[in-house]
Amino acid sequence: MRIEKHKHPHVFRVIERERKSLATKSLVKGQTVYGEKLVKADDGDYRIWSARRSKLGAAIRKRIREMPIQPGSRVLYLGAASGTTVSHVSDIVGKQGIIYAVEFSPRTARDLIKLAQTRKNIIPIVEDARHPTRYSSLVTGPIDVVYQDVAQADQARILLQNVQAFSSFGTWAMLAIKARSIDSTSRVKDIYENEIKTLTEGGLELVEKIRLDPLEKDHAMVVCRVGEYIS
Ligand SMILES: C[S@@+](CC[C@H](N)C(=O)[O-])C[C@H]1O[C@@H](n2cnc3c(N)ncnc32)[C@H](O)[C@@H]1O
Repeated sequence: MRIEKHKHPHVFRVIERERKSLATKSLVKGQTVYGEKLVKADDGDYRIWSARRSKLGAAIRKRIREMPIQPGSRVLYLGAASGTTVSHVSDIVGKQGIIYAVEFSPRTARDLIKLAQTRKNIIPIVEDARHPTRYSSLVTGPIDVVYQDVAQADQARILLQNVQAFSSFGTWAMLAIKARSIDSTSRVKDIYENEIKTLTEGGLELVEKIRLDPLEKDHAMVVCRVGEYIS
């Protein structure tokens, strides 16, 4: 078994025989979060990052070029669920970074809150991402990346509302688009184009779009940057 650095900082590849897996180096020794495999090495524990359980993991497996979430990043994460992807983001941003993790289902957020007890860079927020003013007082300091995975019909609008509330020129925005949450009959290509049009008309500049099939069927990841004019 050997461990290699990925081109994206704080992301790794664990190579066992012919099998290559994505991984992050765990901020908390000995901890698994969602039943993922833990690989022990001399310099710490590496958590295998399942691309089938995480759209960000799938985007990296599909060779996304721009990965704005980096060591030290300050991330506003919308649609945190129980913290599967948030836990890997927590490993990536490390102790110098922070994740404001918003999830509106109190039941789902229970595990997220538990996770935040051992990972001090996660601030769980049990709120509806459609109402950023309800949690703006909890988000202190600037945000580098607004990441969204809410799987709702109005996901582009929700992202724009949060970008308007928390970001400034140059802030990154990442949107995991679930086509079938938006429209169950149209062509997925048209759905992605419509979502991107909503984002660019709202003042975001498209940097990259990547389809996540077959790892995540009918999903895409879109990376944008806040332009000069955000409406
Ligand atoms: C696809 S799951 C997220 C999975 C998670 N991002 C991961 O990779 O581990 C979508 C989550 O968004 C939450 N959600 C949906 N609409 C929301 C909203 N308006 N505000 C906050 N959370 C929302 C759902 O309760 C659900 O837990």
